[in-house]
Amino acid sequence: MNDQPSDDRVLNDLTFRHEAPAADSDDVKRRHTGNRGAWNEVAVHSYRKDLDERVAFLKAGKSNMHPIEKQNLGDLSTWCDTAIHLMCASGRDTLSLLNEGVKHVVGIDISDEHIANARATSEALGVAATWHACDVLDTPAELDGTADLVYTGRGAMCWLHDLDAWAAVVHRLLKPGGVFHVLDDHPFVWLLDPDADKPVYFDIDYFTHSESSQGWPGSYVGNFIPIDQQTRKYERLWTLAAIVNAVANTGLRIEHLGEHPEDYWPSMPNWKDEYRGKVPLTFSLLARKVSG
Ligand SMILES: C[S@@+](CC[C@H](N)C(=O)[O-])C[C@H]1O[C@@H](n2cnc3c(N)ncnc32)[C@H](O)[C@@H]1O
Repeated sequence: MNDQPSDDRVLNDLTFRHEAPAADSDDVKRRHTGNRGAWNEVAVHSYRKDLDERVAFLKAGKSNMHPIEKQNLGDLSTWCDTAIHLMCASGRDTLSLLNEGVKHVVGIDISDEHIANARATSEALGVAATWHACDVLDTPAELDGTADLVYTGRGAMCWLHDLDAWAAVVHRLLKPGGVFHVLDDHPFVWLLDPDADKPVYFDIDYFTHSESSQGWPGSYVGNFIPIDQQTRKYERLWTLAAIVNAVANTGLRIEHLGEHPEDYWPSMPNWKDEYRGKVPLTFSLLARKVSG
């Protein structure tokens, strides 16, 4: 991996260093391992503090499911016994699925600290849930063929550095007839300055962009330890075509692809209302395993 700065872009206090896309499986592993360190820091310094609030939210029967997800997936209580949530963080979205009528949930996350938070959340609620701390690419084989729903997104895709290996995991986890769903940031959003008050174009390569950085934007968790002491994390822009093709190439049948002006977090916090609704901020994809 090239450790020399080149084509850096700076946003507020954060510097985003251009990286070549991962060269091989060792490079993928190295970037995912870096991301584990960075997400462990966030899990300990941010999500852990939210445990009581998360438990109260879920105990009240509330759900974090997005209206787009509800529209695409319908009434989960009628068809989903087991949902596997890939890249589940501290379990708010995973355990929301129980409140939506799913009978058993499984959460996978590379951050052992996020999984510790998720486990503490389900224990405080007194509900059964299964948690695995591992790279999504190493999701245990014992889960193969067990999912009515493989659920992911909301800030997941950009952390992956091997899309075909990821799609193969999605495919092997699903039961025949099972559904894969993702709602995530539209890749077009990478081209926009999130600090601007209107859509402002960044000069980055939509087709190959990959970067690393230290620190987090204030519109997400902010910075709890000095930025230069934080673990370097690695992100990748996957085009919509790359995502759709990776899923379709496993044999899953694409049943829905949506591009949406709504976001699921304040991705463009300063935009005036007049700019909203005109550009896609998220996409959703639903695919089904039609055969064994
Ligand atoms: C933006 S968070 C997802 C947030 C979640 N939707 C929520 O609202 O809490 C991204 C998650 O992906 C996890 N992650 C990143 N790379 C991963 C990998 N290779 N395998 C498994 N999990 C990963 C991180 O640890 C983090 O919890």
